[in-house]
Amino acid sequence: MEKVIRKAKALKGQITPPADKSISHRAVMFASLAEGASRIKNFLWAKDPLSSLNAMRLLGVDIQITETKEIIVNATGLHSLKEPDNVIDCGNSGTTIRLLSGILAGQPFLSILTGDESLRQRPMRRIIEPLNLMGAHILGRDSNKFPPLVIKGGCLKGINYNMPIASAQVKSAILLAALFAEGETSVTEPHKSRDHTEKMLKSMGVKLEINNNTIKITPPKYPLNPFDITIPNDFSSAAFFIAGACLVADSEVVIKNVCLNETRTGFLEVLKLMGAKIEIFNLKQQAGEPVGDILVKTASALKAVTVQGEIIPKLIDEFPILCVVATQAEGTTVIRDAKDLRAKESDRIRAMTIELSKMGADIKELDDGVEITGPCKLMGAQVYSYKDHRIAMALSIAALIAEGETVIKDADCVDISFPEFYHLLETLQR
Ligand code: S3P
Repeated sequence: MEKVIRKAKALKGQITPPADKSISHRAVMFASLAEGASRIKNFLWAKDPLSSLNAMRLLGVDIQITETKEIIVNATGLHSLKEPDNVIDCGNSGTTIRLLSGILAGQPFLSILTGDESLRQRPMRRIIEPLNLMGAHILGRDSNKFPPLVIKGGCLKGINYNMPIASAQVKSAILLAALFAEGETSVTEPHKSRDHTEKMLKSMGVKLEINNNTIKITPPKYPLNPFDITIPNDFSSAAFFIAGACLVADSEVVIKNVCLNETRTGFLEVLKLMGAKIEIFNLKQQAGEPVGDILVKTASALKAVTVQGEIIPKLIDEFPILCVVATQAEGTTVIRDAKDLRAKESDRIRAMTIELSKMGADIKELDDGVEITGPCKLMGAQVYSYKDHRIAMALSIAALIAEGETVIKDADCVDISFPEFYHLLETLQR
């Protein structure tokens, strides 16, 4: 599908973004490991978390969907998954394939995981190595680099592992495998990545000790507690509207009930440094996470910043939209230490450099990031999403401030995390 987006006069109103993707994946996977019925409200009904839901069903878990779209997971304990009678298709979802590999590393049966063209090019050695160190037998295509993965698990032992990169997916895979291992496991990250796994496992009764960037986990002696969760809304989806309201003239937008976990909100910190007008209100706790409403008004003048080091994992998914904001900031914004962005749903460094250049931006590709000099008048252009949901949404926001008309090719990939994106954008546009 092609999407045509024209310059907007203003963005005004209130929106409720979709449920958090990371928490949706974890809720359905972790509930499947509990003993008893878990209830999941406000699940993200988008392609990625559905890959996780379907995978757990293939592993024999009874998952019901009620008329009001709540999910009931009737699980029968940590050791009750069944060998799947088919290959598990993880679609476009890195979170599904990596977290599931952690769970399957602990199962005494054979499973085969694959995915779409993009997922089959994403690096898997980062999970294969630690999981095989624990005693799993995992093989991947091209000397263990890529999916499909073949996993024969069981008989794991705990390890102490220093992760070479900060990654919540890798950390979670190891912590999940550790539930099935003999002895404690500890995992250390170079920088702190999102911690939804730690929070949810703790709430299920798992013993986890967190010391700076090290997490020590003890395999549970008792069944894991089922839970009742209402998933908060996704900051990474909200980020596109936050940026839109900052950049489009005469805007005022309220974004409701957003998860404000501090391992996710680096983009807010950076925007505030750049001079954005953002207020948070109605702060509360939901599902063990801080949640609030975000009010954003047009920024009068944005200034360039340097973004690098430990903040990078806290805004990793916001890189494409941060690039768009940087085109409107006075001076040169530098984003570094972000090489892993080349291994996301697309090479996001290359994708944003090429597509924003087509719109007239002054953007230079670095090995591990970009340099963007602004402010710069963007022009409507024919741009490509690389079938990457976050590239399509970032370019849509760029289109709102570009002269004339922008055509985004393969724009329907927003279905991965945010099926209602274009509709919500239209409701705000004046
Ligand atoms: C995610 C972790 C991040 C992020 C992805 C979701 C998760 O990936 O980019 O969109 O839910 O754990 P990495 O762990 O590869 O950095």
